[in-house]
Amino acid sequence: MTVVTLFVAAALGPAIAPRQSAPPPEVKMFAISEGYERYMGRWSRLLAPGYAAFAGVRDGQRVLDVGTGTGALALTLEAMLPRSRIVGVDPSPAFIAHAAHGARSGRVRFEVGDGQALTAGPASFDHAMALLVINFIPDHAKAVAEMKRVTRPGGVVSACVWDYGAGMESLRLFWDEAVALDAAAADKHEGNMKLARRGELGALWAQAGLRDVRETALVIDQTFSSFADYWAPFLGGVGPGGAYVASMSDGSRHALETRLRQRLLGGGADAPFTLKAKAWCARGRVPKR
Ligand SMILES: C[S@@+](CC[C@H](N)C(=O)[O-])C[C@H]1O[C@@H](n2cnc3c(N)ncnc32)[C@H](O)[C@@H]1O
Repeated sequence: MTVVTLFVAAALGPAIAPRQSAPPPEVKMFAISEGYERYMGRWSRLLAPGYAAFAGVRDGQRVLDVGTGTGALALTLEAMLPRSRIVGVDPSPAFIAHAAHGARSGRVRFEVGDGQALTAGPASFDHAMALLVINFIPDHAKAVAEMKRVTRPGGVVSACVWDYGAGMESLRLFWDEAVALDAAAADKHEGNMKLARRGELGALWAQAGLRDVRETALVIDQTFSSFADYWAPFLGGVGPGGAYVASMSDGSRHALETRLRQRLLGGGADAPFTLKAKAWCARGRVPKR
């Protein structure tokens, strides 16, 4: 298990130990790459091809994947687009290391970085993309402005966010049952997540000055092989759900597990089941002038 620690570079004398600052919450909950793969990365991989088709990315184009995580989108694009060059950026060093391990060619590169302050120069890419990320970025308007800045005029900026309120069933069930047991969990319910409702990403894209803005819903099936396949990823401390489970007492955690098992299997024998996961995606063009 890798925990991200940011060191504050201190202009202090040699006798004084460097101060450490905690990573921001949106980085801390995305620090465990293996856990993330089971929790969400596997579903991102299913969403990535449909997202790439909606974004209209073509072979040979230069693509930026902001908040690449463990590389679900960047590595899908590497395989789909044999002549493209792809850069994945994420603030989590553990995720970046995991993603880099998955690269199959020199055409994909991964860098630790912040979507709110990209290091690339203006017009460096044909497409800037962000899969399931924008809602986790504190200053999301700044991140979209940065994606627009590094994309050439006429290029495309796009993103997807899960429909946490209703259409992302696996997380909605989790939080509904968590809140039924613990009313104090209500403010953590991912149904409150910003930019996760119809029209919100599209409005942000229009506000950012992008042209020909389109929004669509993409839906994937999440097929779980058993109840444990659903529940165990929440025990890894990853994402808002995992962070909440890690904060629970053993008794509360067991009570939540029991409620979810009942909800998903209805008291029957353990068996595979499928839930729907919907994401909202927006795309827009960088104006030519
Ligand atoms: C739900 S994960 C999605 C990861 C990946 N795109 C995927 O679909 O699997 C959210 C990601 O946003 C990243 N993130 C958080 N704050 C960020 C920021 N300021 N800039 C870029 N990425 C950020 C996290 O480190 C994490 O990898």
